[in-house]
Amino acid sequence: MNINDVKNIAVIGAGNMGHQIALLCALHGYKTTCTDVKEDILKKAEAFANSYLPERVKKGKLTQGQADQARANLSFTSDLKETVKDADYVIEAVLEVLDVKRKLFADLDKLAPPHAILATNSSYIVSSRIADVTRRPDKVLNLHFFNPALVMKLVEVVQGPHVSDETAQISLALCERLEKVGVHLKKEVEGFLLNRILRSIAREAFWLLEMGVASFEDIDKAQVYGAGHPMGAFRLMDLTGLDLAYIRSMEKFRETGAPADLPPPSLVERYMRGDYGEKTGKGWYDYTKKQEG
Ligand code: 3HC
Repeated sequence: MNINDVKNIAVIGAGNMGHQIALLCALHGYKTTCTDVKEDILKKAEAFANSYLPERVKKGKLTQGQADQARANLSFTSDLKETVKDADYVIEAVLEVLDVKRKLFADLDKLAPPHAILATNSSYIVSSRIADVTRRPDKVLNLHFFNPALVMKLVEVVQGPHVSDETAQISLALCERLEKVGVHLKKEVEGFLLNRILRSIAREAFWLLEMGVASFEDIDKAQVYGAGHPMGAFRLMDLTGLDLAYIRSMEKFRETGAPADLPPPSLVERYMRGDYGEKTGKGWYDYTKKQEG
């Protein structure tokens, strides 16, 4: 198999990452089917595509023809079997819970054609913790996009010991076809490249906040105005989801047992309130107020 054999892409999970990954694939000529177990999330993803494409045309970033073609390439269904039955490449972007992913990959292995590559967009779960539930571990890898997936250029292609060179090369070639910058990780490491770096920044940012050195707003300002980062650690967490940050910390704590890996109190407090960031209207910042002007 080579990159030219990849024509149909299936995206499993239409949430924060999945809806944009699906649209990205459709915009780059792939027949793309997107699914989710939650009907409302699927509807939201479809509504996003229906508003995003005309906006891009209005902005002069796409021609009407390109927008129409992308929309025609993209379909949504709640039927997993239907989603993957003709897929050459599957990208999973569901909940960051290992057991959920393992169960899903066992199903994908049964439902997708034998030649299909099964990729996970997980932020931190390495594919070797999933691949063994399939009969094609050589075709199971991490393909890690960044939020917002339509905008951020980086994609991490993680080649664990079970992944064939062919799978890694096709995945890197797919990044190129999607006009992304693929980086090749030749070893599996928790957090991959960029999240390890971002996490160390976030850890320092939390320390400064919890010690009462500065407000989260000022810590964000320091990053933006002193280091030229597009946004500070707290604003970024609102974008990627406080729920994700919390779950990731808890998962790490369960593995290590080290109290230092527990989520910081200020994060726990917001997580417990259901303030997950942009997606709930409130996280570190209040987006409901912003919208009201
Ligand atoms: N969805 C789609 N497109 C978006 C978008 C979104 N949510 N937000 C912004 N854009 C697009 C705009 O349409 C615009 O496109 P155009 O220039 O082609 O017209 C472009 O991005 C710039 O948008 P704006 O001018 O409105 O806003 P900014 O210039 O402030 O950029 C940003 C917004 C791109 C989000 C920028 O602030 C940024 O780069 N932030 C950092 C994001 C980041 O670090 N992401 C990685 C997170 S870590 C991660 O994802 C790992 C995972 O495992 C959790």
